[in-house]
Amino acid sequence: MEIAGKTPNPYRAKITAIGGYVPPGILTNHDLEKIVETNDTWITERTGIRERRILEKGLATSDMAVEAARAVLEARGIAPGELHAIIVCTVTPDMFFPATACLVQERLGAAGVWGYDLIAACSGFVYGLTTAAHLVSAGPPKKVLVIGSDTMSRILDYTDRATCILFGDGAGAFLVETAENGSEGFLDFINEVDGSGGQYLKMPGGGSRMPASHESINSKQHFVHQEGQQVFKYAVRKMAEMSNTLLSRNGLRGDDVKLLIPHQANRRIIEATAKALDMPLERVIINIDRFGNTTAATIPLATLDAVESGRLKKGDLVLFAAVGAGYTAGANLWRWQC
Ligand code: UT7
Repeated sequence: MEIAGKTPNPYRAKITAIGGYVPPGILTNHDLEKIVETNDTWITERTGIRERRILEKGLATSDMAVEAARAVLEARGIAPGELHAIIVCTVTPDMFFPATACLVQERLGAAGVWGYDLIAACSGFVYGLTTAAHLVSAGPPKKVLVIGSDTMSRILDYTDRATCILFGDGAGAFLVETAENGSEGFLDFINEVDGSGGQYLKMPGGGSRMPASHESINSKQHFVHQEGQQVFKYAVRKMAEMSNTLLSRNGLRGDDVKLLIPHQANRRIIEATAKALDMPLERVIINIDRFGNTTAATIPLATLDAVESGRLKKGDLVLFAAVGAGYTAGANLWRWQC
């Protein structure tokens, strides 16, 4: 709907290229059986995960981010210096500062580009997409690279079976740029944070409240701490609620969407969301079995699977939805233009 007397915004955002990277090292459920008191049946039935990737020692989040970024640049056929901004969504930066975006910019040789890190845990990539779409819609024409990259294996306690089985490492990226006049891309978004859930999923140590000390290390404060059932209940409720609100205010139903590409935290959360949206699982991308929860990288990696398997094509309506630590939650609606 256009407001009388206002010129329609000529700058619309579309996604023009995608890429991803997962490290070659595989940690299977059977491998985990040898490390911690767990079993393949429990993990598969309760989460849908069969294996996850682990980044080799000595490498970090920016290394995977650079690989994903290079894949995007190659797919689009542009030079790094043609980018306007780089947003790296991550909760496992190489270090607090400089920002991972700076490290990626330098490694790519993307002269003249600006960027920053975005911390929104598992909703990071959805928030990154929302942000990039609005940078683009501010004009003039530009190209924004959104990267989701997380090395969760570095902040997991491999003696805590409730968390260490869930997460893996990986990176994915989208190029968001100005669409030609009249063409559709970014359609709508809904994002929300609810800090009352912060206590249920966090890494307490290492920040200004609890700087690293012998005590913080001995008491394992630099690892992921999660109350799984609390997060599970919120995720089931919120993924569906966000998605439904976004669809209904655009006059759409689950039926109208070609694909739901949700954050991959637990297969049961994804199935509950699909059910609430009345979407058959054939129209939902699930790859948690191969990668586990890669935090900010799940959505781009799942999208890559969707494109490579021919399930997502130009012109399709696609819904991205995520819930994560914070709590953070959000959904994005796009017309696919790759
Ligand atoms: O991206 C957002 C971040 N995270 C999430 O979205 C995760 C949300 N939460 C979940 O996915 C689930 O809550 C989990 C997968 C983490 C746990 O599943 P659950 O069905 O909620 O299990 P539970 O925590 O209620 O535990 C059930 C039982 C317990 O044993 P008892 O007390 O019934 O004897 C646990 O000790 O399963 C036990 N258990 C395990 N057993 C084998 C917990 N973890 C394991 C394990 N292997 N790895």
